Amino acid sequence: MNTSNEWQIEHHEAAEYERVLVGAISGPFARALVAASKLTEGASVLDVGCGTGVVARLAAGRVGSSGRVVGVDVNTSMIEVARSVADDEGAEVEWRVGSAQALPFSRGSFDVVVCGHALQFFEDRGAALREMARVLGKGGRVCVSVWRGFAFNPYLHALWKAIGDSAGEEAAKGLGAAISLSDPAKLRHFLEGAGFGSVEVGGIALALALPRLEEFVNGHIDATPLRGVLAGAGEGVRREIVESVSRQLVCYCRGEALQVPFASHVAIGRL
Ligand SMILES: C[S@@+](CC[C@H](N)C(=O)[O-])C[C@H]1O[C@@H](n2cnc3c(N)ncnc32)[C@H](O)[C@@H]1O
Repeated sequence: MNTSNEWQIEHHEAAEYERVLVGAISGPFARALVAASKLTEGASVLDVGCGTGVVARLAAGRVGSSGRVVGVDVNTSMIEVARSVADDEGAEVEWRVGSAQALPFSRGSFDVVVCGHALQFFEDRGAALREMARVLGKGGRVCVSVWRGFAFNPYLHALWKAIGDSAGEEAAKGLGAAISLSDPAKLRHFLEGAGFGSVEVGGIALALALPRLEEFVNGHIDATPLRGVLAGAGEGVRREIVESVSRQLVCYCRGEALQVPFASHVAIGRL
């Protein structure tokens, strides 16, 4: 089931995604998305494009034992890691492998659908949002986060530029896809086109402390499809990429520490 060209990754990368990217970036944004979703005790929640499951795990803490949380992702490795992390943490979440464009649930199965930094990677965003509407009951709502543009995400921009300069534009395409839904009017249009009303587009802006860039940038590459894209490039290319990102982000250094702004749109729509 190859519905995402951008996120076909293996078990090793999925484990690195949880270790490197959830810790530094996805985790803080997942907390903000779950807070914006205003989940209540007893709610049934679906996390679409759940990856290694950070949004679903946090949602499970909100809805409690009378609620239900399911995480769905097209990538089997992501779901394997999601299952094992949730087991370790004692989070009550059901995990399913499935495509956002053909959700394996019947009409009206959930009260809330959440989707963290994944919609921009789906091949057919309109079809995915229509599926989210189908599996929601009347009165249900969807809460979606997508990255804002490079101007608001200097780390993503620095990595995109560094990879483009050292390995070519084609190699950096996946990072370009990360910001491909950064126009809030387009996001609103997709939600309304799928039948959601009273759409509100808000934002999350966080200044995140990043670990040492040499480890973090290499970890980021190894945690995503970039690993495969750069597999043929030598160590020199990796070194150039790290040096370029470090140069571009020097203005965010405070002594030894690096604190970089990141920003997302959060769209909430209702049925
Ligand atoms: C950047 S990750 C985000 C994961 C997680 N929501 C988070 O916040 O950490 C994007 C996820 O979307 C998933 N994905 C891409 N295309 C998909 C599709 N068509 N259906 C379901 N999941 C998909 C990928 O496998 C990947 O796990």
